[in-house]
Amino acid sequence: MAHFVKGLTIFLILINQYQSAEVPSVASKLGSITGETKSVTFQGNKYQVDRYLGIPYAKPPTGDLRFQPPQPFGPFSETYNAVDFGASCPQPIYPFMPVEKKTDEDCLFLNIYVPRQKPDEPSGHAVMFFIHGGGFSIGSGVIYDGAVLSSVGNVIIVTINYRLGLLGFLDIGNEKASGNFGLLDQHLALQWVNENIDAFGGDKDRVTIFGESAGSMSVAMQMLYPSNKGLFRNGITQSGALSLPFPGLYVENNIDAAKYYAKNMSCTVDTLADVINCLKEASHENIIRIVQDAMDSGGMDAAYSVSTAPTIDGKFIRHSPEEMLQKAETETCEELKFFRSIRLMNGVNGNEGASALLMLGDAENLDDLEITREQMNTEHIPGTLAFLYGNKTVSDVVNQLMISEYTDWENPDDPKRLREQMINLYGDIYFNAPCVEMSRVHANETDVESYVYNFLPRLDKPLLPLPKWVKYANHGDELGPVFGYNFDPQVLFNISEYTPPEWELDLSNRIMKYWTNFAKTGDPNKPDSKLLAWPKYELDSQSYIKFNREDSIDQYFSARPTEFWKKIVPAVIDATEHAQTVTEQFGKKEEQTCDKDGNCG
Ligand SMILES: *[C@@H]1O[C@H](CO)[C@@H](O)[C@H](O)[C@H]1NC(C)=O
Ligand SMILES: *[C@@H]1O[C@H](CO)[C@@H](O)[C@H](O)[C@H]1NC(C)=O
Ligand SMILES: *[C@@H]1O[C@H](CO)[C@@H](O)[C@H](O)[C@H]1NC(C)=O
Ligand SMILES: *[C@@H]1O[C@H](CO)[C@@H](O)[C@H](O)[C@H]1NC(C)=O
Repeated sequence: MAHFVKGLTIFLILINQYQSAEVPSVASKLGSITGETKSVTFQGNKYQVDRYLGIPYAKPPTGDLRFQPPQPFGPFSETYNAVDFGASCPQPIYPFMPVEKKTDEDCLFLNIYVPRQKPDEPSGHAVMFFIHGGGFSIGSGVIYDGAVLSSVGNVIIVTINYRLGLLGFLDIGNEKASGNFGLLDQHLALQWVNENIDAFGGDKDRVTIFGESAGSMSVAMQMLYPSNKGLFRNGITQSGALSLPFPGLYVENNIDAAKYYAKNMSCTVDTLADVINCLKEASHENIIRIVQDAMDSGGMDAAYSVSTAPTIDGKFIRHSPEEMLQKAETETCEELKFFRSIRLMNGVNGNEGASALLMLGDAENLDDLEITREQMNTEHIPGTLAFLYGNKTVSDVVNQLMISEYTDWENPDDPKRLREQMINLYGDIYFNAPCVEMSRVHANETDVESYVYNFLPRLDKPLLPLPKWVKYANHGDELGPVFGYNFDPQVLFNISEYTPPEWELDLSNRIMKYWTNFAKTGDPNKPDSKLLAWPKYELDSQSYIKFNREDSIDQYFSARPTEFWKKIVPAVIDATEHAQTVTEQFGKKEEQTCDKDGNCG
């Protein structure tokens, strides 16, 4: 009997030890939070990481809180069991994009991945806070599993959900819905991290925010929001700069979109009060159904026409960031000072413009796509101009200039060269020129730390459908390497297992080292210095790193397209407008001085 009891005691102790190893728990200011330990493997190395999923950082933004700035969730009444992801925010289903398993308007959660290793500094682990992309209308923190990046880089990873679409960005110009809730959610989550990450072993003075696509644009916008002072010290922007042309971005309000939604729900839209009451009452399913219907019936163009994005609300965004960048040569405002006080790592992929191909039709037929001279001259070039300059009539000179710039004059009519020129065109206007412009503004001051990368290689399995003839990495392709390929291949590729080729894993390892080095020290070359030295981006040398099977250093990234889009095209438009005005005035004068029979005085 005694023997049995002793045996049981040992057994219980063992269970206890087993549990304390398996059920990680932290005592935060808000109460106890328990998580779970996971094992992950990267390049044959095994790691353990504690993860805490689905922690609410804000009150559910429902009922009276819909279309309102987020409110802190506050303390937990009992131990919070953080082992399941919270719901993702309501969103439509986009073609080729992962579908969220669970969505609900109560969606303001964050997830934390803590490595089991000792921190690199006694002050605690550096923290990397990820903002997902998805055009401000889809996505969540769920698919970005931070476990491998956290383990290989020995940093804490935080991922978040923030409000999307109309629920995230409705701005009718008054306090009933003043816009930018999605950005305010990100800010509140950053405050949560600042106040609570020490309980998880994190160092609140070493927080880096990073994001991709719309998440990258969000990082840049947070870097221009001085109320974030003290909440982070580094920013990484992957494929999304401030001035990326985007439907509904940086407008004063999105009342037109709001009216479209209300009308489509058969509400009266005579007054703004009618509109907002209708949208406050609507179920979130109905709100999403409107976007989904628009997209299903009219494609991405239609979805864009109902899309809502960050607006110049006068509070979070006070000045148009695009104008701010343009004025940055001569003026410095508070926002720009804050922007430059944060160290920036900024980059794009080799063939970002290939993402535009999905707008051109069947993904299966893209391998055989050919673009004729006619299509280039009458569709792509004028279409791009219409998108960039709206209804403003642009002189034909600008058309000609663009045709000239995006023609291979040794092979001007080859449909296979033209399709490449077309993705170069989209890559330049959406990604490359905005990227370089942002880094130049950032770097144009003494004592700023700025780095630029270009992620080149075409991967074994690109994230989006990518025709064979595209040579380099498409939009989103760096995400696998950044997160150590720790994703569910079923969700992304509809296959049960996937192992990338060894050279990609090596590249991933290097990228994770650069990223987490930067998070730890503000310098991608320290403390792990076994990598190719990545020089700072400075206005005179414009050095940057090229990620590929073998990394290399180059200079003057996209300097010509940037000059073309940011200087030459605007100058020609100004000059031709001026010429038109002069002609008009001259014409009027003639009319006035000639009588109706044509006799001029
Ligand atoms: C709502 O929009 C869809 C197209 O997206 C259209 O078919 C439908 O008729 C609209 N409903 C109303 C009431 O306007
Ligand atoms: C950098 O700033 C100087 C002085 O404000 C300005 O003259 C110059 O044009 C700026 N350069 C860039 C690339 O913005
Ligand atoms: C552009 O032109 C269309 C058709 O002429 C018009 O309905 C629309 O309101 C115009 N948009 C702007 C922003 O001026
Ligand atoms: C996933 O793959 C299976 C089997 O190859 C196929 O039947 C199914 O249609 C695919 N699903 C999607 C969403 O592509």
